[in-house]
Amino acid sequence: MARGAEQTAVRGIVGADSRASDDPVRTRLHALRTGLEAGLIGASGLVERLLIGLLTGGHLLIEGAPGLAKTRAVKRLADGLDTGFARIQCTPDLMPADLTGTTVWRPDGGRFEFLAGPLFHSLVLVDEVNRAPPKVQSALLEAMAEGQVTVAGITHPLPDPFMVVATQNPIEHAGTFPLPEAQLDRFLLHVVVEMPDEASERRILDLVEGEMTEEATPMPVRLTVEELRAARAAALKTHVSPALKDFLVRLVAATRGGPAAADLRGAIEHPVSPRGTLALMLAGKARAYLHGRDHVVPDDVMALAGDALAHRLALTWRAAAEGQTARAVVAGLLDRVHPL
Ligand SMILES: Nc1ncnc2c1ncn2[C@@H]1O[C@H](COP(=O)(O)OP(=O)(O)O)[C@@H](O)[C@H]1O
Ligand SMILES: [Mg+2]
Repeated sequence: MARGAEQTAVRGIVGADSRASDDPVRTRLHALRTGLEAGLIGASGLVERLLIGLLTGGHLLIEGAPGLAKTRAVKRLADGLDTGFARIQCTPDLMPADLTGTTVWRPDGGRFEFLAGPLFHSLVLVDEVNRAPPKVQSALLEAMAEGQVTVAGITHPLPDPFMVVATQNPIEHAGTFPLPEAQLDRFLLHVVVEMPDEASERRILDLVEGEMTEEATPMPVRLTVEELRAARAAALKTHVSPALKDFLVRLVAATRGGPAAADLRGAIEHPVSPRGTLALMLAGKARAYLHGRDHVVPDDVMALAGDALAHRLALTWRAAAEGQTARAVVAGLLDRVHPL
């Protein structure tokens, strides 16, 4: 990105919060954001969530029809990070060792040696995760939850930072293995990407045409691991008031058929667990930090509630048959449960 554009981006932050100028990492993060948005038309929500994943150490599941720039988004993020990156293209014949790595016998040295698989990178794109067979999915989800991989009885720690961004086609597509509901909550956020509107699509044509004839716009920054760690530490320090924590608890309690939503008791098979409440709080902190604030506001929680909670909520068969969706349930709760 041109120097002028980067400076405009910096002024944007300073406008939001004058303390941002004391925080060079936040300024670099903002440049990363601007660079991502420059190559991903109409995707500011997705970009924000990718950065929230980075800042919280959380994993992301991005869902959408083919051709909506899911892969492109993650590759572009990798271009803006000075960390290791691997892409795993899932197919039905993939095996767990294709992700984790294998132990091989070295006759010359007379010993076994572990050959680390693609999971041993700081940013891992697991493309079309619902085309991978269940054994691969469960190896992946275990690695995401534990930050380590066990091969032939030996445990190997994954890098730190370690972030998985998985993409999937809408679940009803043929030839796919839907991720098990109980394991979906390993993902911090489940982001759904929609078709672009006409104006955005028009800009996509210009952008991609330009890239085919000229050089693609490079990312303006490459964040180092140290910068990422510093940004994470700063984002974690973002303040959440007791009243806002109460709001988070009331919101999640409502998925358990609490007083705010007694009518939902018959619609929810599995409510959101405390892991979901924590995820929403952490994601809210990261969003506040990205917006140049040192405290979380109700808007942070409300903007992320759908992506942080809906995939952790299983509806009853009856509610699903009646056309109810988990996202609609969360949206409905936000109408009823108020911050104060
Ligand atoms: N919002 C967008 N911004 C920029 N390019 C886009 C956008 N949506 C689609 N494209 C273009 O469409 C193509 C498909 O992108 P890709 O990342 O392979 O999609 P997916 O992984 O979702 O199937 C790419 O050439 C990409 O540049
Ligand atoms: Mg793709």
